Amino acid sequence: MDRREAMLRELNMHPMWVRREQAVNTPEVNVVQPEAPALMPEVQGGDSLREFQLKNAGGALGSLAFPELKEKVRSCELCALRAGCTQTVFGVGNEQADWLFVGEAPGADEDATGEPFVGHAGRLLDNMLLAIKLKRSEVYIANVIKCRPPDDRHPHVNEVASCLPYLKRQIALIQPKIIVALGKTAASALLNTDATIASLRGRVHEYHGIPLIVSFHPAYLLRSPMEKAKSWQDLCLAMDTMKACASQQ
Ligand code: URA
Repeated sequence: MDRREAMLRELNMHPMWVRREQAVNTPEVNVVQPEAPALMPEVQGGDSLREFQLKNAGGALGSLAFPELKEKVRSCELCALRAGCTQTVFGVGNEQADWLFVGEAPGADEDATGEPFVGHAGRLLDNMLLAIKLKRSEVYIANVIKCRPPDDRHPHVNEVASCLPYLKRQIALIQPKIIVALGKTAASALLNTDATIASLRGRVHEYHGIPLIVSFHPAYLLRSPMEKAKSWQDLCLAMDTMKACASQQ
């Protein structure tokens, strides 16, 4: 048994997570264009998320390189989350990575260490990366929200709107070849849609010309292990998309 097989077995994904070979040879990528905006819920005061983003993005991040952007995040007070967290969690990995994985927000472990996805969900993410022969150090991992929300609640719309420009600048700097949005918060924020994960999975979306795959959040997979098979399908779609993009270049 090789290392990957052992890992899949441990994750309860073996033999379910066996890659069908014909998938490797299907390079055609049908990119789904971004969905129409204005599907997001209203924020307090009546602004749509889009209007809120436009007001708050400020355009000031567009010239920042990684060190200044990190500093900007560290000193951010755009929403109340910073006051309640230990430290900001900017992101980690190769700043020129081909693969970008985007989660929701730091939890307790991430708040304590300053690194995204280091708790239980992070260990599962590491194993998912191993399954597609990637190491954490080869990819970039970031969250939509850089500060831990109280009681690990889901972020509010205004918090997403305040923080999203930082992620957008990270993406512009990294210029990944593919983005994997892990869970509803990441998918909704990057695709500007309120559609369900179920309806967004299984297709190649696009974020500013970059292919984007929607999958489940690892924390959800820990609660619903039967969905791991679907998550493997999503990773296979991501790998096929990368291969197709490489062959089209
Ligand atoms: N969940 C996330 O979305 N991000 C983390 O960094 C940790 C858990």
